[in-house]
Amino acid sequence: MNSIAIDGPAGAGKSSIAKALSKRLGYIYIDTGAMYRAVALFFLDEGVKDSEDSRIESLLEKLDISIKYEDGTQKVFLNGVDVSDKLRLEQIGKLASKFSAIGSVREKLVALQRKLAKKENVVMDGRDIGTVVLPNADLKIYLSASSKVRAKRRYLELLEKGNTDLDINLIEDEIIKRDEADMNREISPLKQAEDAYYLDSSDMTLEEVVSKILSMVKEEK
Ligand code: DC
Repeated sequence: MNSIAIDGPAGAGKSSIAKALSKRLGYIYIDTGAMYRAVALFFLDEGVKDSEDSRIESLLEKLDISIKYEDGTQKVFLNGVDVSDKLRLEQIGKLASKFSAIGSVREKLVALQRKLAKKENVVMDGRDIGTVVLPNADLKIYLSASSKVRAKRRYLELLEKGNTDLDINLIEDEIIKRDEADMNREISPLKQAEDAYYLDSSDMTLEEVVSKILSMVKEEK
C-alpha cells in the first residue's frame, strides 16, 4: 500500500491539502487529529479533567473510535455515534492536545491508524505520522507556516462558519500555545522526521502546495 504522511503545527493547512491530494491520487484521507478530538469529546462527556484521572485506563477500554467515509468525507464515530460535527471547536482542539500526551491514548489510536493504512492507499495527517505511525511512508511532508498566517487562516475559516466574536491575536496565542504543548510532550512530540521534506506554505496558495507535493510523489515513483 502507498502512504503519504503530512505532519505539522496547528492551522498549517494540513487537512485541506491532504484532502485535495487524496482526491487527486484516489487515496483515502485520514485525519488523525479528528480521532484525538473524538477522544477529547469522550473524556469531556465522562467528566475527565486531566491526565491524572485514575479512570482513564478503564474508560479507554470502553472507547471505540471508528472511521467511515460518506461521499469521500471522513466521518468519525465515537462508540457508534457520528460526532464529526462536534469536533472542530478550538476548545476541543485544546483538550485533544492535552489528552494526546497520554501514552495509552496514543497507543490505542496509533494501532487504529496503522490498521487503516495497511488496507488502503492513504494520505494521513497529524503530528507523529512520519516519525511514529508510518515510519516507512513513501513520502513525508512537514508542512508549516508562520503563526500569523496560520492564525489568519483559522480566523477566516471561523468567520466563514458564521462566528463573529473573533480576536485574531487571541487565535494566534492559542495556536502558539498548542504547538508548544505538542512539540514538548514526552511521547511522540511533533517534530520533522529526518526524511521528511519541509514545506513552508506561508506564501503559497493551496493549489501551489498541492502541485508541489504531487510533483514530489511523481519523483518518488
Ligand atoms: O490536527 P488537529 O488540530 O485536529 O489535532 C488536535 C490535537 O490532537 C493536536 O493539538 C495534538 C493532537 N494530535 C496528536 O497528538 N497526534 C496526531 N497525529 C494528531 C493530533
